[in-house]
Amino acid sequence: MTGRVVVGTQWGDEGKGKIVDVLSEHADTIVRFQGGNNAGHTVIVDGEKFVLHLLPSGVLHENAKCIIGPGVVVDPFVLLDEMSVLKKKGLSCDHILISDRAHIIMPYHVYQDELQEKHSGNNKIGTTKRGIGPCYSDKFARHGIRMCDLRDFHVFEEKARRFLAEKNRLFTEIYGEKPLDCDKMINDFKAIRDEIVARLVESVSMVNQDLDEGKDVLFEGAQAAMLDINYGTYPYVTSSSPTSAGVCTGAGVAPSKITQVIGVVKAYSTRVGEGPFVTELTDEIGEQIRTNGGEYGATTGRPRRCGWLDLNVVKHASIINGLTDIVLTKIDVLSGMDTLKVCVAYEIDGQRYDYIPSSVEDVAKAKPIYEELEGWKEDISKMETYEELPENCKRYVQFIEKICGVRVSMISVGPDRKNNIYVHDLIHAR
Ligand code: GDP
Ligand code: IMO
Ligand code: MG
Repeated sequence: MTGRVVVGTQWGDEGKGKIVDVLSEHADTIVRFQGGNNAGHTVIVDGEKFVLHLLPSGVLHENAKCIIGPGVVVDPFVLLDEMSVLKKKGLSCDHILISDRAHIIMPYHVYQDELQEKHSGNNKIGTTKRGIGPCYSDKFARHGIRMCDLRDFHVFEEKARRFLAEKNRLFTEIYGEKPLDCDKMINDFKAIRDEIVARLVESVSMVNQDLDEGKDVLFEGAQAAMLDINYGTYPYVTSSSPTSAGVCTGAGVAPSKITQVIGVVKAYSTRVGEGPFVTELTDEIGEQIRTNGGEYGATTGRPRRCGWLDLNVVKHASIINGLTDIVLTKIDVLSGMDTLKVCVAYEIDGQRYDYIPSSVEDVAKAKPIYEELEGWKEDISKMETYEELPENCKRYVQFIEKICGVRVSMISVGPDRKNNIYVHDLIHAR
């Protein structure tokens, strides 16, 4: 049995999409278990770029089943658009399935997200405005609409009309904005209903059967540990659990069935949206990293905030996820720098913290405690073995292993599917 999980260890955009695509070559089933189209996962194959938001990043491997799991929130219009892009490129979408338990992001969730941000002034979160927070809020308030509701359109329509009437009071009476047109919303759903319903499955039995039959099941995380609703820099987080624990609740899989947890670590830090960022660089070094790393959001196009690697963050991610392996990405971006700083702990009001404090106000006050490592000048993006890497680059990798206590099993040195250095066997080790 192989229940392999890939998660982000920082603030997202570590290169999870690329790694999931690489590992999918060996997978029978690929499952997204949380988040929605706030994700932007980039896969590059022979120079051709695919940005996936809802579809699992293994979708380009047509032999594997691709499941949008129960814990995902799904905007069906976005999903159909994404599939039509793949079809136009001549790819099959026959292997894409949707859990009938997944909640639907309704047009009023997207509008509510926009209005909440607009009316929050300095307190805005900097969300992707895709309706993620409002959809999860309604799910937990038991005011959600699920994919299975679409099977009987009367059930769907009754809920949609009732909930939109409530939301329209919020939009008009609290925010003083325009209401949404209910008939238009219902007709839009009527037009796509059949296409969505044809892909609905009860995924829990399917995924567990695959695991029990010894198949290779890959669970793809979106977002990352520091955006986790419980363990991130709350409230500057997303509204789901992008951790290995999220697989259990979001895919309906027991902890004992998870055999490997791969944490994707970017060789430096980036963050999109608001919230504290202890190692942020607002100087020319930050600009250099942004330019060399192409650090602009895959979903919103926003410039990503950049900074030094924060291993206090990666240690936190390692603990809450139970990482068995690290895949280190984008280390090629650091080539040419004289000195590299790596944060190992925080100092807050004169006290050292080797963990992430709970209060966002404390994190905002934290000063990074850095260790300095020497850089390397060589272009490493064409290298294929660990031995070829410059000594200082190897030291950087070993430093991460030492501080986090987790082995680095693969090093990604470029965006293409092929740009990888395999250090340990990721596939057959477990
Ligand atoms: P995700 O959200 O974790 O899947 O990551 P994104 O796709 O949002 O952002 C990662 C970006 O870095 C994408 O543009 C990738 O094509 C690119 N990328 C991934 N791995 C590497 C790498 O090792 N080196 C370089 N230079 N780029 C990479
Ligand atoms: P991937 O999967 C980076 C951030 C947003 C915002 C916060 C809340 O590509 O790594 P939301 O729309 O989820 O309510 O926004 O979370 N955020 C991401 N940042 N990568 C992502 O996904 C993100 N998904 C959400 O910028 O700060
Ligand atoms: Mg991304």
